Amino acid sequence: MPAASAPGKLILFGEHAVVFGEPALAMAVDLRTEVYVRPGPETTVNGLPIASPRFRYVRAAAKRGGASDPLTFEIRSMIPSAAGMGSSAAVTVATLAALRALRREEPPPETLARLAFEVEHEVQGRASPIDTSTSVHGNGVLIRRERGDGFLWQVERGDRKWFLHHVDVPAFRLVVGETGVGAATGPLVAKVKQFADQSADARAAIEEIGRIALEGAEALGLGRWERVGELMVRNHELLNFLGVGHPLLDRLVRVARRWSYGAKLTGAGGGGSMIALTDEADRVCQAIEQEGGRAFVVHPDPQGVEVRP
Ligand code: MEV
Repeated sequence: MPAASAPGKLILFGEHAVVFGEPALAMAVDLRTEVYVRPGPETTVNGLPIASPRFRYVRAAAKRGGASDPLTFEIRSMIPSAAGMGSSAAVTVATLAALRALRREEPPPETLARLAFEVEHEVQGRASPIDTSTSVHGNGVLIRRERGDGFLWQVERGDRKWFLHHVDVPAFRLVVGETGVGAATGPLVAKVKQFADQSADARAAIEEIGRIALEGAEALGLGRWERVGELMVRNHELLNFLGVGHPLLDRLVRVARRWSYGAKLTGAGGGGSMIALTDEADRVCQAIEQEGGRAFVVHPDPQGVEVRP
């Protein structure tokens, strides 16, 4: 049975601002989604009708991926959903790749990345290509305003253009603290857009986040952990200002910071997860759990989408 797997992601810097075309840095993590597909009597996902709202990314991916005959999809995911860890991007990318494998096609990664972005854009109403391109490419992905070293591909939508670049993420680990509060990305992205349309301060915050992402990528490459941590904390404050924070996220960030270089919310916010950069992962995990979160450690995944024909 043709199968594809794709990794989840964590955004280190730049979520939300990247939707406006600002720079952002993300890394693929060692939690993956696997999609198996074969012709079937009717189109189902894990034995349930594909029309169910919980399968809207699979449905949109199947449509854009050119699926016309009835298909049976089996999906297994290690990525928590609605937790800011790219579960929708991973399922979208793996579904598109599995469909291509079924047709014995091997599209170049940028074709998959562009299609997957269109799926996310359709389902969310507005999006950037950071999650989907990171899931396709693996390792680290930096979005810049112009083409530079390590250029992978570019994605365009209306007057927005994103230039995606490969970045080698150092072999480090991050603590993730899940709030357990689920939050859909679409409404949060729409909320930031509305704020930015009305407020010059919001637009200034978005631009500052873009500058932080570029400096953060450089500091990470140089192993300047203290500076990376400071930038994470400032990025978190700016995301709070944009209205995508949550009281539990703030509490988890505050307790994690006692033993970390820095911590911030990651992904869409409004709940979801935070990350901490630390040399004392056990203590940070314990502190997060005591505060009511669920903590675990993740590593970068150098492997992007993978296909088994
Ligand atoms: C969600 O993981 C990241 C956001 O910036 C949305 C997007 O880029 O599409 C909030």
